[in-house]
Amino acid sequence: MRIALLGYGTVGTAFHRLVNEKKNLLKEKYGIVPQLVAICDRSGCMVNEEGISYETAYKAKTESGRVCSEGSVMRPMDVIRGLSLDLMVETTTANFKTGEPSLSHIFESMKRGIHVITTNKAPLALHMPALLEEASLNGVEFLYSGTVGGGTPFISFGDKVLRGNSLKGIKGILNGTTNYMLSRVIDSGLQMSEALSEAQRLGIAEADPTLDLNGFDSAAKLVILMNHLLNKRVTISDIKISGIKEDLPKYAGDQTVKLIASSFPEPKVSMEVVKRGSPMDVGGTYNVLEFSVEELDKIYVTGRGAGGQETAASIIRDIVELKEKLMQKSYQI
Ligand SMILES: NC(=O)c1ccc[n+]([C@@H]2O[C@H](COP(=O)([O-])OP(=O)(O)OC[C@H]3O[C@@H](n4cnc5c(N)ncnc54)[C@H](OP(=O)(O)O)[C@@H]3O)[C@@H](O)[C@H]2O)c1
Repeated sequence: MRIALLGYGTVGTAFHRLVNEKKNLLKEKYGIVPQLVAICDRSGCMVNEEGISYETAYKAKTESGRVCSEGSVMRPMDVIRGLSLDLMVETTTANFKTGEPSLSHIFESMKRGIHVITTNKAPLALHMPALLEEASLNGVEFLYSGTVGGGTPFISFGDKVLRGNSLKGIKGILNGTTNYMLSRVIDSGLQMSEALSEAQRLGIAEADPTLDLNGFDSAAKLVILMNHLLNKRVTISDIKISGIKEDLPKYAGDQTVKLIASSFPEPKVSMEVVKRGSPMDVGGTYNVLEFSVEELDKIYVTGRGAGGQETAASIIRDIVELKEKLMQKSYQI
């Protein structure tokens, strides 16, 4: 499997290390022989048709801050257009204004018949219906399990466990940073600004936490889940979004407040009062998703949000899934 890896930061490097560590398992158990023939960052691309070792690329990146040698003119689009590739793995920085450069990388790959795996929420939040259509038009697979629930596989659960059942709606806590902050404000009496400083000190919140606090990160994940699990062709502009604020809704002693993303009655992200001890009352950085299934009672899946390592692991899962999908296609009659 000839792979181009676009983006060589936290997730990209963790993926390269992991795919290297797991190469025997991937070959013996799944018949996959991954070969990274190109790796790109902002500075350009390292290309080797024989495959790039983790040691070579990681050494170059840590020593010089760039994967390519100085003066390299190769850019991600040149790699997509010029190399023979089976798969493009996209892990570049999220840009919620335009979705670029990821959006163009994905569209161009699909047009050229290259399968795509991305961990970048931005292009999906802005244009998921169009991306799904483009993948289908070109007969390529498009996988993105690292964009939501990388640490707790909500998408796989919906896909695999609920096969043949009718999913009516979803709602949940999709952002660990704000969940941690709300828990600290309500349970320990911290001011919102103190909870944020603490979360930043502990590495739970980023230096710029805007997208977490204003509910945009949760809304982007809701868009992806609604398109994938409910077949609702929505984008972020269809979601009513309000984030966490200093003045919380009124709640009694046996209640608490959570930032909830919900597909019904209208798609929205907002602070809601929930009963203490209920399945939605997950603490710390935990996420939870409630599946309302026609044939069953409500089902809850809960676990931690993802970091770089978990997100890299989700790319490996998507590679295995890709192989299975391609095998199924070739056996179709
Ligand atoms: N980290 C996580 O825990 C996590 C979890 C879930 C999803 N994600 C998503 O996964 C993606 C990667 O996250 P990350 O944490 O790995 O980010 P990161 O450490 O900032 O790495 C981003 C990489 O993208 C490269 N890049 C940016 N613009 C580019 C361009 N125009 N052309 C080529 N390369 C470009 C950067 O190049 P330089 O190295 O040259 O700057 C860098 O290597 C993001 O979209 C993020 O939202 C991350």
